[in-house]
Amino acid sequence: MRDSDYQFIRELVYKTSRIDLGPDKRELVSSRLSKRLKATQIASISEYCRFLQEEESAEELANLIDAISTNHTFFFREHQHFDFLKDHIIPEMLQRRAKENWPCFNVWSAASSSGEEPYSISIHLTENLKGWPWRIEATDISHRILQKARVGIYRKDSLSKTAPALIRSHFQQGFGPHEGNFRVKPHIQSPVTFRHLNLLDGAFPFKEQFHLIFCRNVMIYFDRPTQEELVNKLARKLGPGGYLFVGHSESLSGIKHSLKVIKPAIFQNPLAPVAASPGHGHTRHAHATHT
Ligand SMILES: C[S@@+](CC[C@H](N)C(=O)[O-])C[C@H]1O[C@@H](n2cnc3c(N)ncnc32)[C@H](O)[C@@H]1O
Repeated sequence: MRDSDYQFIRELVYKTSRIDLGPDKRELVSSRLSKRLKATQIASISEYCRFLQEEESAEELANLIDAISTNHTFFFREHQHFDFLKDHIIPEMLQRRAKENWPCFNVWSAASSSGEEPYSISIHLTENLKGWPWRIEATDISHRILQKARVGIYRKDSLSKTAPALIRSHFQQGFGPHEGNFRVKPHIQSPVTFRHLNLLDGAFPFKEQFHLIFCRNVMIYFDRPTQEELVNKLARKLGPGGYLFVGHSESLSGIKHSLKVIKPAIFQNPLAPVAASPGHGHTRHAHATHT
């Protein structure tokens, strides 16, 4: 792949999705582009770059982002988040609900990929949040991956971290030609709404604030200024006392934001407004180190 082609793709991907490919992803990009060359029947990467500059290629831009983005995920990834949700957040929210009369528990899975994350949350809430309706918004930039998420059928390896009892209760197992497939049952699927959203493209389309936001394993693809912009946008969508989960490999240290650090990769919107302290304005720094 020529330097100028790599530079062009890098800039286009950044402008569109804010995914920062960095200088050393050339081989990865080249191998992912080979699928697009095949699909579009374009002979070379240089020709493909020229095509992307033409007006009629707008649809191909979405396919390029699909091909470049990493969608790897699985059910109950990073179990510490689910443990903390069960042991601390749900009891706390149920107590507050009794006083504050909230009709619905609102959750957002902000980079939901093929659905394993929002469906894991739905399974977890079915098991642990009795007697309080909830809804889960699930969003991603990739149209292709959202389509897979809506179908809700998975292979066994995606469930390797899921307890067998949960698989029995919440999945239909395929037989015959569908052997090895697991379909999410309707009671898990129906509280989840999937929609296309680029997290860095303008205002979020939600009127409500969320009790929980999962934005995990996507910030690693963004540069620091983009991470800071995104964390602050997400913080504004958290209700008072709401929680933000990020991936354990995503350090937010050094990023200015208004959230309290609760544990590695878990942040909370303060219940009361944060008092201004000299030299810090209304922002706090995250001091947690994430491994
Ligand atoms: C590695 S997956 C993470 C899935 C899940 N959150 C998890 O932790 O397992 C990252 C997802 O972020 C999505 N993504 C990348 N850039 C995005 C953007 N600007 N807006 C929304 N989603 C984005 C990708 O399409 C991909 O599905």
